[in-house]
Amino acid sequence: MASQNSGKFFVGSIVTFLIIFGVVKIVLSTMLDVGKNVAAPESMLAEDVAERVKPVAEVYIGEAPVVVAAAVEVAAVGGGAKIVTQVCALCHSTGMMSSPKLGDAEGWAPRIEKGVDTLYDNAINGLNMMPARGGRPDLSDDDVKSAVDHMLSLVK
Ligand code: HEC
Repeated sequence: MASQNSGKFFVGSIVTFLIIFGVVKIVLSTMLDVGKNVAAPESMLAEDVAERVKPVAEVYIGEAPVVVAAAVEVAAVGGGAKIVTQVCALCHSTGMMSSPKLGDAEGWAPRIEKGVDTLYDNAINGLNMMPARGGRPDLSDDDVKSAVDHMLSLVK
């Protein structure tokens, strides 16, 4: 009786041990796998991230002052040619939204017929898809007029 019981207990404890061992093993290997996955993109380490972000950050920091400088230059120096290149050419160099193309005498002919004062007015106040002052409210009337003069000089 006693030996039978201890035999059962012995077998039982082995089975229990195997089950526990199996469960622990599964849990452990799962944890290790999860651990591997967590560790896998090591590239997320702060240093690596900094390293990968760096070029973008540097380019941005490097170029921002250039853009600012260009805007200041337009405002300060003015000059029709410069304004046309830096502001108006955005649309007029390609004839975008059927704007009269720079240097295209045929495209400009019907505009010129309206008289230069009308062209000034429309450039300053806008006309359909043509934004007032080319979308640059910081340009003075004279800035816009000198830009129009320059545009017209390209088709004379
Ligand atoms: C966002 C695009 C865009 C920009 C930027 C732009 N234009 Fe225009 N412009 C147009 C379009 C489109 C037209 C044609 C409008 C129409 O006739 O319906 C036009 C027409 C004109 C005309 C002819 C107006 C008329 O009465 O026929 C003049 C002059 C002109 N633009 C000057 C300028 C000047 C000067 C600048 C820069 C300060 C400038 N534009 C910037 C889109 C633009």
